[in-house]
Amino acid sequence: MKALFNVAISGLLIASLSATAFAEDEKEEAVEYRQGVFEAIKWNFMPMAAMVKGEVEFNKDEFAMRAERVAALSKMPLEGFKEGTAMGETEEGENDAKPEIWKDWDDFKGKMAALEEESAKLAEVAKGDDMDQIKAQFGATGKSCKSCHDEYRHK
Ligand code: HEC
Repeated sequence: MKALFNVAISGLLIASLSATAFAEDEKEEAVEYRQGVFEAIKWNFMPMAAMVKGEVEFNKDEFAMRAERVAALSKMPLEGFKEGTAMGETEEGENDAKPEIWKDWDDFKGKMAALEEESAKLAEVAKGDDMDQIKAQFGATGKSCKSCHDEYRHK
């Protein structure tokens, strides 16, 4: 009977230990996920910046495709900002998410919504031929990145 009891107890212990390990994994994965999405956003954003600045020739189809991608990707990072995943709260890798994100959650969400809105507009104007409009809207989208980074991303 005692042996059975011990088995039951150690079973419970293992279960609770692995539940903790799982929660930790989930946090690390959330951080990796959001950083991965931001990397994908950047991957598409930089060639557009080069075109807008005139560093490379403007290619309408490529620009429009990348604008579409950024608009779609901008809906994705928020999911990775899980409770308990601020800088210092996760163990592995770099994490630059300031704890203020969760204190001012509504404001942070609003800034993410601004990115969604501006990048959706960019994808829209990129279908047309008005270069001034495209440049202005690219600038507005870039500002939405900066206004969030300035407040919520550790430098
Ligand atoms: C609503 C807030 C917000 C907006 C909008 C935003 N970012 Fe970020 N970004 C963050 C935060 C917070 C981090 C830090 C995440 C971390 O380290 O886990 C980050 C990290 C990044 C990173 C680094 C990812 C890595 O590998 O560590 C890149 C690149 C990036 N953002 C690009 C952009 C670009 C480009 C835009 C606009 C098109 C943008 N971000 C818009 C909040 C934002």
